[in-house]
Amino acid sequence: MVKADQISQQTLDRVQEQIGFYGKSPEVEELIQTIATVAPTDLSVLLTGESGTGKEIIAKAIHQLSHRNDNSIISVNCGAIPEGILESELFGHEKGSFTGAVGQKKGYFEAADKGTIFLDEIGEMPLNTQVKLLRVLETSEFMRVGGTTSHKVDVRIIAATNKDLDYAVQNNDFRRDLYYRLKAIKIEIPPLRKRRNDIPLLVKKFADSYTTTNNIPFKGFSPESIEVLRDYNWPGNVRELRNFVETAIILNKGDVVHSDYVRSALNMEKSTPAENLPVPLNKTPEQAERELIYRTLIALKLDLSEIKETLHALINGQVQMNEQPEYDNNWIGNTSSQEVKPQSLNAMERELIKDTLNKYEGNRRKTARALQISERTLYRKINEYGLS
Ligand SMILES: Nc1ncnc2c1ncn2[C@@H]1O[C@H](COP(=O)(O)OP(=O)(O)OP(=O)(O)O)[C@@H](O)[C@H]1O
Ligand SMILES: [Mg+2]
Repeated sequence: MVKADQISQQTLDRVQEQIGFYGKSPEVEELIQTIATVAPTDLSVLLTGESGTGKEIIAKAIHQLSHRNDNSIISVNCGAIPEGILESELFGHEKGSFTGAVGQKKGYFEAADKGTIFLDEIGEMPLNTQVKLLRVLETSEFMRVGGTTSHKVDVRIIAATNKDLDYAVQNNDFRRDLYYRLKAIKIEIPPLRKRRNDIPLLVKKFADSYTTTNNIPFKGFSPESIEVLRDYNWPGNVRELRNFVETAIILNKGDVVHSDYVRSALNMEKSTPAENLPVPLNKTPEQAERELIYRTLIALKLDLSEIKETLHALINGQVQMNEQPEYDNNWIGNTSSQEVKPQSLNAMERELIKDTLNKYEGNRRKTARALQISERTLYRKINEYGLS
C-alpha cells in the first residue's frame, strides 16, 4: 500500500462524502488519504481486494478527483469479454482485419482519450493482450487490430483484480513486466472482516440511503443486531452487507430489525467456521483434509489461486494440518464414499468445479462467483475438464 502524507480530518470527511466510500477504521482512512494523494496525478493504479470491497467505486473516485473528470471513465470488464474480441474492443480494428470486421472501429482506449480507462478483472486478460497494454503504458501508443500505424492516446489506466497477481506471475498467467509496471501504485482494499468497526457506520449509511430513496419509514437496527452483524464474516464484503441491510428493511416491514432475525437470516445458528465443523467419523485423514480445503473455499469464497497455494504448501510439507478436521457429510454432493488417492491439482480443481456446479444446479454465473473466477475462465475450465 502506498503511504500518503496526512490530510486534515475535515478534508478526509469531505472526500468520503464526495465519493460515497464510507468507513472510519484506520484502514479506510489511510485508503482515503492515499486516493486523495494519488488521484490528481496521472499515475496508473492497481486496485486489489476481494469481491465486493469497493474496487469499482474507488476507481470512479480516483477519476472523479482527478483533472480528467470533465472527460469520461470507461469501464472494461476483461473477464467478461470473450478472449478473441477483447483486443479489438480495447484497441479497435481496421476494416477487413478479421472476418466480420466490415468497417474500421475505434476501441475503448480511443474513446477514453483524455479520460480514464478502468480495466476490471485485469488478472483475466490474455497474455497477448497484456503485451499490448504494456506498450500503451510505456509509450502511450497503440495499434488497431490489423493496423500498421501507431496512434497516440492520453489515457490514465486504473486496473483492478481480486486475484493474487503474484501467484499468477509465478504461474506464468500474468506478465511480470506488466505487473511491476502496474503495481507501482497498488492500493489494497481490506476485506470487511478485517475492519469490523466500519460495520455500524455502513449499516447506518445504507439504511438511511435506502429508506430515504424509497420513502420507507424505518425504526432501525437494535444494538444487539448490530453486534451480530459485526460478528459475521461477510465473504461478499460490503456488497453483501448492503444487500443484507436493504432486504432486512423490506422483510421487517420497516420495524426494528432484531438480532434473532439477523442470526437466522445469516444462518449464524448453524454456520460454523470450517475449522470447527461437526464431527465426522467415517473419513480417512486424506478425505478429511481434501474436504476441509473444499469447504473452506466454498465457505469463505477464497480465490482459487489461494487454495492452490495452500495445496502446494501442503504437498510440499510447509503447512501441517494440526488437527483432524471435522465436518458434516452433506455439505457437498459427491465427495463422500470413494477411497481418496493423492490427486493432481488439476484433478482437484476439476472436482471442485464439478461440485460447485452441482451445488448451484449448473448455474455458471453463480458458480463463477462462488469460486471467484470470471465466467470466461469457468467456461474455459468446463471445456478443458470435459464438464459440459
Ligand atoms: N466503503 C464503502 N462505502 C459505501 N459503499 C461501499 C463501500 N464499499 C463498497 N461499497 C458498495 O458495495 C458494492 C460493491 O462495490 P464494488 O462494485 O465497487 O466492489 P468490487 O470490489 O468492484 O467487487 P467485484 O470484485 O465483485 O467487482 C457497491 O454497491 C458499492 O457502492
Ligand atoms: Mg468490481
